Amino acid sequence: MRTPIIAGNWKMNCTLDEAQALASGVVAELEEPLCTQVVVCPPFPCLEAVHQIIATSGVALGAQNMFWRESGAYTGEVSPAMLTSVGCQYVIIGHSERRGRFGTVEEGMTEGLLKVFGDNDETVNIKVKAAFKHDLTPIVCVGELLAEREKGLTDAVVRDQVFAALEGLDAAQVATMVFAYEPVWAIGTGEVCEAEEADRVCKVIRQAVGSKVSEEAAQAMRVQYGGSVKPDNVEGLMRQPDIDGGLVGGASLKAGDFVTLVEAAGRIKCG
Ligand code: PGA
Repeated sequence: MRTPIIAGNWKMNCTLDEAQALASGVVAELEEPLCTQVVVCPPFPCLEAVHQIIATSGVALGAQNMFWRESGAYTGEVSPAMLTSVGCQYVIIGHSERRGRFGTVEEGMTEGLLKVFGDNDETVNIKVKAAFKHDLTPIVCVGELLAEREKGLTDAVVRDQVFAALEGLDAAQVATMVFAYEPVWAIGTGEVCEAEEADRVCKVIRQAVGSKVSEEAAQAMRVQYGGSVKPDNVEGLMRQPDIDGGLVGGASLKAGDFVTLVEAAGRIKCG
């Protein structure tokens, strides 16, 4: 059985005090031992403080992004070694918001401005390799825009993103990684992808990995669904065979809601 994995992506939320309060709330409400791998991904300035709070719990720490170089003149960037030095075990790579692919683009966010979020398939691959070099488990996000879905391009877009992310990796690495299927139109919109359809695309991801790497690696690696996962829709999603957990934004900002998601995943996946 694959260990289910629920990760909270706090995005650009929480000052230091708020992050400490949220992490403390999660640790206090979770009933251990956990059968689900739980990960919280606070913003960079809060990583160390959150690590102090979760260090003796079963909750792991993840970052939301990183640069791939070891160190040097890269103003504003954060290296893999910096992440491990503050206790990170996971790193989200290629979130659609880091690829500049937003479901709803706010007024004033022109194409030029969106380029500030510079990830693409090539940077995702190079970051995944850098993560492995530093024993960080990458959570690689893939997913289609609404316009791509409407043109029937969902599977092709997702497959291309998966193939690009896997370039140059060996089967042992791939077996340990996590993919998150996050349809961009479902992120932060409250419009969750229907469970059977989410499962179908997660299967497309697994098949892509099977064809490019190995069937064994494809069966071992975990695939999360992300996009408006909430306490009232989590059960249907977790009941799907190819969905191994969730990458959760909004609902991870309330300790009670997040713990409800973790408990639901455990109940359904671990029996
Ligand atoms: P959401 O975000 O749960 O707020 O839709 C999910 C994500 O972007 O990881």
